[in-house]
Amino acid sequence: MMTVAQTVAEPTRRDFLFIATGAVGAVGVASAIWPFISQMAPDAATIAAGAPVEMDLGPIAEGQIVKIFWRGKLIFVRHRTKKEVEEAQNVVLADLRDPQPDSARVKEGHSQWLVVYGNCTHLGCVPLGNEGAFNGWFCPCHGSVFDTSGRIRQGPAPTNLPVPPYAFLSDSKIQIG
Ligand code: FES
Repeated sequence: MMTVAQTVAEPTRRDFLFIATGAVGAVGVASAIWPFISQMAPDAATIAAGAPVEMDLGPIAEGQIVKIFWRGKLIFVRHRTKKEVEEAQNVVLADLRDPQPDSARVKEGHSQWLVVYGNCTHLGCVPLGNEGAFNGWFCPCHGSVFDTSGRIRQGPAPTNLPVPPYAFLSDSKIQIG
């Protein structure tokens, strides 16, 4: 026969399990977000020292561009779609002002990732991602247009967005510098 104490205890235990599950969920979300945030904002001492910066690429969705600072310079890390990679690879080099094949601007086996400095090579403005006639970047200051490889295609900028020194530590992690 069920006592009053048991009928009270049972829902209490269920409540506890529910709360405990909720807490685990919250911790899981926090730990998933933290590496992303920590990579987006390396501490000031690291930046000032110009030390290499590691970046976890896992949270960057296809089609997304993430900004990071290294040695006080803005850098774009772009997770290119298959279409963007193909467009970048199929360009006729003779059509380019600063001819460079896409393969020379990415790391072998990681062509979906483009890492470039984030200031326009004209006068240093910050171009807007996924804009312009080539869906790469568009610089609103004087109209320079860059393709999905960061190469100058239209406007006054004289050269491509440069590629900073970086290396893949694994398929989902790079080190800049
Ligand atoms: S600074 Fe970008 S076009 Fe002039």
